[in-house]
This record gives sequence, C-alpha cells and structure tokens, in this order.
Amino acid sequence: MISQVAISYDDVMKAEALELSKTSHIPLQEAHPEAAFSLHLTHSQLALVFNEDPSLKALTIDFLSGKNQHRRLYGGGKGQQLAKAIGLNKFKNPTVIDTTAGLGRDSFVLATLGCDVTLLERILPVYLLLEDALSRANQSDDETIVSIIKRMSLQHSDSKDYLLNLKENQFPDVIYIDPMFPPREKSAKVKKEMVMFHHLVGKDNDAEALICAALPRAKKRIVVKRPRLAECLHPKPAFQITGKSTRYDVYLPLASTVNGN
Ligand SMILES: C[S@@+](CC[C@H](N)C(=O)[O-])C[C@H]1O[C@@H](n2cnc3c(N)ncnc32)[C@H](O)[C@@H]1O
Repeated sequence: MISQVAISYDDVMKAEALELSKTSHIPLQEAHPEAAFSLHLTHSQLALVFNEDPSLKALTIDFLSGKNQHRRLYGGGKGQQLAKAIGLNKFKNPTVIDTTAGLGRDSFVLATLGCDVTLLERILPVYLLLEDALSRANQSDDETIVSIIKRMSLQHSDSKDYLLNLKENQFPDVIYIDPMFPPREKSAKVKKEMVMFHHLVGKDNDAEALICAALPRAKKRIVVKRPRLAECLHPKPAFQITGKSTRYDVYLPLASTVNGN
C-alpha cells in the first residue's frame, strides 16, 4: 500500500514534507513520480490526491466545518441510531474502541456525545489524514471542539492485534466495527471521494476475525455497522437497529474467557 503513495507539497512546506517522509517512511513524490496517490501537504492541511484520476476531489478530513460540524449540531444527538446502538441512552460516557476509524466521522459523533474514543486505523495514509485533522482541530479557538478532540485518541494499528494485546483492565465498554461496505461503484450515491477511499483501502475481508477478537473484550457491547440489507458478518446479534441505508448489529459480550485468542 505504501508503495502506491508518495508525499507532495507546496513549496513553503518543503521542510515539513521532508520530516513527514522521514517519520512515515513514505517517499517524496520527486523520488516516486509514478505513485497512484499523493499525500499533499499545504500550509492548511494534508490531502489525499488520486493521481490516476484528476477529476476526483482531494480527500481531506475536517472536524471544524462541513459534514462533521453539521452532524454535531443537527445530527440528532443521542437520538441518532449510532448513539442508540452504542447504548448512550443507558451508559454514561462509555469508553469506546473504534476499530475501524477511517475518516473519523463516527468517532467524532461519539466523542461529541461524551464517549472517550480510541480510534484505530491500519492504513497509514488514512491514519496520517486523521492525525492531521485532529491536530488542526486541537488548535482551534473553539473550546467545545477542543474538549471533544481531547476525548479522541488515535493509534496506527491493526485492531485485531490491538485487541488481542489488551489486558482485562483495559477492556472498553464498547467495541465498534465499521468495515468497508462492498463498493457500489455504479450507484450515484457513491461520492467520488469515496471511490478514491475504496481504491486506497480495498476490502476489509478480515472483519469477521475482528468481531471474534472483539466479542470477549467489550464490557457492554460490540456494535457492527452494515449496509441495511447485507448479511450479518457474525451470527445472531442480540438486536439490530435499522435505518434507511445502514444497520447496526449489536452483540452482547461473551463471558470473559480471554486466553490470548
Ligand atoms: C468503512 S471505513 C470506516 C469509516 C468510519 N466509521 C468513519 O466514520 O469514517 C473502514 C476503515 O477501517 C479500517 N480498518 C478495517 N479493518 C481494520 C483493522 N483490522 N484494523 C485497523 N483498521 C481497520 C480501514 O482501513 C478503513 O479505513
């Protein structure tokens, strides 16, 4: 995956781009001009560009405006389905491990509603976009936003490994799993930027193994997000919350018989 990605930059950001290349081990574009994707560094943000299709808008993450702010202000608070699935009507400020952080949208909603969220993302360019967005939001003048961002902690990790290494006293209240939906490239609903995201991330074919690792490691719930009509990734959820296009399958934790698997 990393070999598909290079770092490009606006001239004023050369020093920062060199540093990013050094710490991330992602080459600079001048050394890797054929890369399919560029992580482009400007003074204001990091953006993912799909070099093979210039018609696609660059992908960025922004917790300060746009969709994330709209959902924070008008998304329905604890009445929205994600909140119900996590159990926010029952549990006060639960700890949540978001094992599939992606663009951080669901994590941001949960942190907005008072959860302490650990975001795990294994694809390095996606992790770097998230890190950049969190760092910018953390420097905001808006104290509400800063207090939300302080409830979000990000790690570059494969979640299955992360879960398997948790000690019992580190188990969260809730484990959240939102694997990539099967791509619907013909659907008009698939935003072009999401097409690029699908190209970069691919399929999450190991989602069921992730659920199996999660089942004995959440104190209260394991929540799996699926397309409304898709099969369950694991049999017998305790209950389901179904919306227009999305469904949440909610599992109750297995008795804690953790032996490293
Ligand atoms: C559908 S996206 C999640 C979108 C996210 N819920 C949001 O609100 O933006 C799935 C993401 O989970 C990541 N992912 C899938 N399996 C993972 C695993 N085992 N460990 C870490 N990240 C994983 C993928 O790389 C991808 O970025």
